[in-house]
Amino acid sequence: MKFFADTADIDAIRELADTGLLDGVTTNPSLIKKAGRDIIEVTKEICTITTGPVSAEVVATEHDEMMREAEVLRKIADNIAIKVPLTKDGLKTCKKLTGDGTMVNVTLCFSANQALLAAKAGATFISPFVGRHDDVGYPGMELITDIRIIYDNYEFETQILVASVRNPIHIHDSAKLGADVMTAPPEVIWKLFNHPLTDKGLEAFLKDWESTGQKIG
Ligand code: E4P
Repeated sequence: MKFFADTADIDAIRELADTGLLDGVTTNPSLIKKAGRDIIEVTKEICTITTGPVSAEVVATEHDEMMREAEVLRKIADNIAIKVPLTKDGLKTCKKLTGDGTMVNVTLCFSANQALLAAKAGATFISPFVGRHDDVGYPGMELITDIRIIYDNYEFETQILVASVRNPIHIHDSAKLGADVMTAPPEVIWKLFNHPLTDKGLEAFLKDWESTGQKIG
């Protein structure tokens, strides 16, 4: 499963890349706002850190204007994936862009039927939002199970990109269910390292080593 960082924070992206944990980046208008930077400048900088897909989202809601914004965004770098919402205009834009060889991430997916539509429109990625589903009392991961079954039934090539990831259990379940990608805030990815037995074991090894009085090299 590929790991994308769900952030526009350059330092956080760089730290993940340096640890070999970064396969791509997703941004959205809220994350650009949080970064407090110009969308073109910050996205360009992200594309110098990773050669993996970097999602940049259009904000227009009508097809022609979406296409105009997509033209601007895709000029940023070769690894830009244009993010469009799961609407009629969004999928029309998706079909046109993927037909031209541009990667497209269809976002704001909340049902398996919506994911089916995105696959039929040729989406490169579908982004089902699991955390926002959990927030309203529906088990978000059930959506991933259903989309995996539907995509496998018809051999759709659209990649399932689990989004709105809030905790390590979402990542664990995404991998078990065979999601292609998950995107998470860096702080959630770092939590995957945590295990008390790792800390305890390391402490014991270091204590025993110290008592030998030896040095390596
Ligand atoms: C990613 O593509 C989505 O925009 C993001 O994961 C949404 O996450 P949130 O529900 O935590 O805002």
